Amino acid sequence: MASDSKRPAVLVTGAGGGIGAATVRALADKGFRVYAASRNGEVAASADVHPLAFDVTDRGAIEAAAEQVLARGDHALAGVVNNAGLIVQGPLELVPEAELRRQFDVNVIGTTLVTQTFLPFLRAGKGTLVNLTAGTARAAGPFYAPISASKAAVQSLSDALRLELAHFGVSVVVIEPGAMDTTIFTKAAAAAEKAGASAPKELVSLYKAPQDAVAASMAKLKPSSPTLVADAIVKALSAKKPKARYTVGPDLRLLGLLSRLPLRTRDRLVAGVTGLAKVPAVH
Ligand SMILES: NC(=O)c1ccc[n+]([C@@H]2O[C@H](COP(=O)([O-])OP(=O)(O)OC[C@H]3O[C@@H](n4cnc5c(N)ncnc54)[C@H](OP(=O)(O)O)[C@@H]3O)[C@@H](O)[C@H]2O)c1
Repeated sequence: MASDSKRPAVLVTGAGGGIGAATVRALADKGFRVYAASRNGEVAASADVHPLAFDVTDRGAIEAAAEQVLARGDHALAGVVNNAGLIVQGPLELVPEAELRRQFDVNVIGTTLVTQTFLPFLRAGKGTLVNLTAGTARAAGPFYAPISASKAAVQSLSDALRLELAHFGVSVVVIEPGAMDTTIFTKAAAAAEKAGASAPKELVSLYKAPQDAVAASMAKLKPSSPTLVADAIVKALSAKKPKARYTVGPDLRLLGLLSRLPLRTRDRLVAGVTGLAKVPAVH
């Protein structure tokens, strides 16, 4: 890798914590220069890390950040990592419209706005676009419809982009993590609790037993370190010919298998594993 400001530069969104922060560290350790974008711009600056501040749903702010990247002399990027994201969860019947829109606004529209704005940089650098999905993109989980659907959408737009951008020499990679030890789940649970508080009580109680069963099965999951995902992202960005998808984490083996099963068989297995099968039916 070159040793001065010619070192390849990568943009990472959602860099304030979790997988994004781990990715910024791993990329800087490998000799990349990193544009670390967070909502408040509070990522610590260093010789290798240049903080940027934007909300991924705000096109004007993303474009202003792109101007800052240009002003630093970077018109070409080796990578853009669309990592910013969140989870909206709960029985789909009870998910408020605003929450559903927030889910798609950040995970799908946000990913698209960042991609559109920084594609000229990726074309100039013959770089790699890295989109974060999740195992639930291929096998949706009960009470995780919004996040599952949003990540399925990211997978789908990545599949289209892979074909649209190949002749520019731009690669498109999906990183599909299993459960990772970050604060994304506590933030999602807090938002779901708030939404549940304004839902009709009789509907909330209808879903209590199945939700408790799924929550108990989720509590048994042992989340992995987000550094595993960061390492996969570094691998993808360092490869001459990156794979189209990198799956990360032990629970992804089961999800990969599930996604290939006939749907009824998959449903039976998921209902068994999550304890849903044992919840008495409502008559
Ligand atoms: N952790 C897992 O188990 C897991 C599994 C599969 C996929 N993923 C995916 O991996 C990515 C990173 O997740 P994580 O686990 O590291 O979660 P995290 O710790 O919550 O990090 C997500 C980051 O995205 C940022 N973000 C949220 N909304 C934003 C917005 N509108 N504009 C700009 N930034 C925004 C958050 O900033 P604030 O702190 O300001 O909200 C946060 O820094 C997400 O796309 C997630 O869906 C995670």
